[in-house]
Amino acid sequence: MNAMDEQSEERTRGMAGDKLAGRVALVTGGSRGIGAAICRSLASQGASVAAGYSGNRERAEQFLREFEEDSSSGGRATVHQGNVSRPEDCQRVVQEVLDAHGRLDILVNNAGITIDKMAMKMSVQDWNTVLAVNLSGSFYMAQPALQHMVERGTGRIIFVSSVIGETGNIGQANYAASKAGILGLTKTLAKEAAFILARAGKLTDDGVGITVNTVTPGFVATEMLESVPEKVLDKIRSQIPVGRLCRPEEIARVVHFLAADASAYITGQVWGVNGGMDM
Ligand SMILES: NC(=O)c1ccc[n+]([C@@H]2O[C@H](COP(=O)([O-])OP(=O)(O)OC[C@H]3O[C@@H](n4cnc5c(N)ncnc54)[C@H](OP(=O)(O)O)[C@@H]3O)[C@@H](O)[C@H]2O)c1
Repeated sequence: MNAMDEQSEERTRGMAGDKLAGRVALVTGGSRGIGAAICRSLASQGASVAAGYSGNRERAEQFLREFEEDSSSGGRATVHQGNVSRPEDCQRVVQEVLDAHGRLDILVNNAGITIDKMAMKMSVQDWNTVLAVNLSGSFYMAQPALQHMVERGTGRIIFVSSVIGETGNIGQANYAASKAGILGLTKTLAKEAAFILARAGKLTDDGVGITVNTVTPGFVATEMLESVPEKVLDKIRSQIPVGRLCRPEEIARVVHFLAADASAYITGQVWGVNGGMDM
């Protein structure tokens, strides 16, 4: 565990509860960074978690060991390798989670990458790779999860987009477009889920329902920012009204709030967690 993950784990421990007892959550990119903080936060409310990862098996196994050592985690954890840009991997991972845990209540589409370049120098491959992971991957994961949730009549899908999808950013045409695309995907899936439940007579006044929402983080202190030069980070900090980078658990607490049964009336929404960057 790196220093950032350690601090994040300590802060999450203070919030234990049972709002998600018995629930199963699949978090893509759940082995490190924001995704690992989301897993710990959901588990602190009693959920079992399935953490997805792409190629870094060592980090995934480390996540699992640390989760098991942490007595404050309510449920159990599994890890699942799969590249979200491949639809067949996404279907397999959702099936693996159903086989391992028997159900899937919460999908957090968090896996994401950056390949930053000025638009005029961005290759077609740079464009396609980022769109494939961040946007298509979100759709490929949501599709089989939604099918299962519609059959059961309940579920939560939460996408992790970015403030950059709302504001744009120099050098991030592919990333901004992929994260903006998630906003349209969120609203469409939210409408479709409610429509399908209503048609099936499963939309009740006091039910949990199926909701689809997005969180748009500002700049978060994870490995994703490690390649950003300190001078650039200083400039970024100076543009954030609260004057600092976001901590991963500050994203996680919004995700676990949206995941709760009691958040049934919040759907198709975009939740900014960015220190005031977009005001
Ligand atoms: N950090 C920020 O400042 C920031 C700001 C706004 C939004 N976000 C968004 O928040 C999310 C998490 O960011 P982070 O900073 O926590 O990232 P990170 O530390 O780089 O971790 C990325 C995670 O995603 C997984 N992943 C990467 N490509 C994948 C693929 N093709 N298929 C499946 N899993 C894949 C990685 O697995 P491996 O370990 O196997 O590589 C890892 O678990 C991303 O969507 C990012 O765009 C981040």
